[in-house]
Amino acid sequence: MKIAIIGGTGIYTIADSGEREVIVTPYGDVIVYKSVVENHQIIFIPRHGEHHHLAPHEVNYRGNIWALATLGVEQIIATQAVGSMAAIYPLRSFVILTDFIDFTRSRPSTFFAGDGVPVHHVDVSTPYCPNLAQSLISAAAEIDYTVLKGGIYACMEGPRFETSAEIRMLSMLGANLVGMTSVPEVVLAREAGICYGSLAIVCNWAAGIANAALSEGEVTDIMDECGAAVRMIIRQYLRNMRDEQCNCVNGNLRNEVIAIAPVVKETIL
Ligand code: HPA
Repeated sequence: MKIAIIGGTGIYTIADSGEREVIVTPYGDVIVYKSVVENHQIIFIPRHGEHHHLAPHEVNYRGNIWALATLGVEQIIATQAVGSMAAIYPLRSFVILTDFIDFTRSRPSTFFAGDGVPVHHVDVSTPYCPNLAQSLISAAAEIDYTVLKGGIYACMEGPRFETSAEIRMLSMLGANLVGMTSVPEVVLAREAGICYGSLAIVCNWAAGIANAALSEGEVTDIMDECGAAVRMIIRQYLRNMRDEQCNCVNGNLRNEVIAIAPVVKETIL
């Protein structure tokens, strides 16, 4: 099974060396790095670009997922830096996302739009793969790291951080983590039928919680501290991984996408 890692802030490589390749997509060129890690073919995409020059709302989410689909990727492990709204997710904790609430505003968020492309409504009642979540948690435990689950992620437009009132609202709505990048990435992966899971790293207390102003520096400092552990957890996951397709809803949808969307099939899959 071909796996992709989409590295968020602080995660800019997965292997020491990777073959850089430019993939042409209808949404623009996408740079990927191909390598073999723990005997698996891995495609790595730095979400914010090679030089971390793309803000969350500027990331080419459709291009990235399109590129991975055309390369035959069947599973994506994404990382996200997040702020925490809950004491159970303290600074430096690793949390598997289980659901999201979408507050993005300006991002193209579907492949199913445009001339000649049929409209389709995909199911996202379980947006992140539960099998992948469990395997990441077990892999982390084997190397003495704790990965927590239950992250309900509020995806904000950014690039500013939230106000304290926004965080109180998000918390009332049931979110416990906040970030700017998981949506529409996870949704596009679902549309393309690619199994998708996300490992979040808590880098700060969300606005108004710790009674201090938020800074980019605290996010990047904690990501610098935690990056090595994130890579080790992913490598342990890959070490354990057998070469069979995940049987989650995304894996199944892959076939359905082919059945229901011939135009997208021709171009995407
Ligand atoms: N808010 C939004 N995005 C983030 C945060 C935050 O507090 N921390 C890291 N990414």
